[in-house]
Amino acid sequence: MSDKKVTIKDVAKASEVSIATVSQILNGNSKNFSPKTVARVLKVKEELNYVPDYFARRMVMKKSKTIGVMVPDIANPFFSTLVRGIEDVLYQENFITMLCNANEDNKKENIVLEELSRRGVDGFIIASSAINNEDIERLLVKKKHPFIILDQKSPEENSDTIRTDDFLGGQLAAQHLKELGHEKVAVVLPENATANISKRLEGFRTVYQSNVTIIDALLTKEGGRKAASELVKTDVTGIFAINDEIAFGLYLGFRQLNKNIPTDYSIIGYDNVDMCEYVTPPLTTIAQPIYELGQQTAELLLDRIENPKKERVIKKLPVNIINRFSTTHA
Ligand code: RIB
Repeated sequence: MSDKKVTIKDVAKASEVSIATVSQILNGNSKNFSPKTVARVLKVKEELNYVPDYFARRMVMKKSKTIGVMVPDIANPFFSTLVRGIEDVLYQENFITMLCNANEDNKKENIVLEELSRRGVDGFIIASSAINNEDIERLLVKKKHPFIILDQKSPEENSDTIRTDDFLGGQLAAQHLKELGHEKVAVVLPENATANISKRLEGFRTVYQSNVTIIDALLTKEGGRKAASELVKTDVTGIFAINDEIAFGLYLGFRQLNKNIPTDYSIIGYDNVDMCEYVTPPLTTIAQPIYELGQQTAELLLDRIENPKKERVIKKLPVNIINRFSTTHA
């Protein structure tokens, strides 16, 4: 058997049609051809075991059917669920997802964005905050790359964006603790919080005003575990963990300090990742529609790719409280 790679020319010759016809049919534009021609081309493609060369195809079609996705921390279940939502929609539409875990590293994000652009991806989804708006302008806007911004990244002036209601989420968390009679409360969040996370604190403050103890922690379980030893030095009884990962870390931290949840501390988290139901006690939290957020983001981007001139889209998805067992009366 010859090792020579089968080309589109071979398929065209064996099907007795032009290369352009084969190209159109294999790219799903078969409506201009008779069913007989379409069937013959597809049969020959199978028989010759023809695999389209995506780089060549990109040169011709100016489309790679690939989307670049940037997230800050793929180990965080919020982002893995988000990417699942994105990927499920893209896959259905025959797009491939190229994932970059930015790790809050601006240099890495820059390099990856440049590289993805060079590889001809059709669009970008950016959920991490490392890249600044000037770089977005230079790397995406000027090059007319379609992109969507969400979550930790603040919207660029002209970009489509999809958000969840962080302000309301913070308010709901505070109202819940207030209703349970907690007067001394803390919010656990990163010192340099991104805009979406700061909004949660803003919402929280509409209920508790300045009467809030702020405890600094990274958005990780380890961040939460460390925060527990700071919290035991205070007189708070109600705690708003700005994401579920921090809440899970608090569980371990408090256990190591022989404190009980919810009798010593009521904890409310944020995100509603799967794990909330599996910890003891199950975590009361503010739910973001994470998977749907991913799906709608991908849909929005595909729509922008199809309709580059349409008006800027700004979408906001709702959040709600999920009452479980990690909070109780003060
Ligand atoms: O858990 C990750 C958190 O960071 C989520 O709340 C998400 O919205 C974010 O920005």
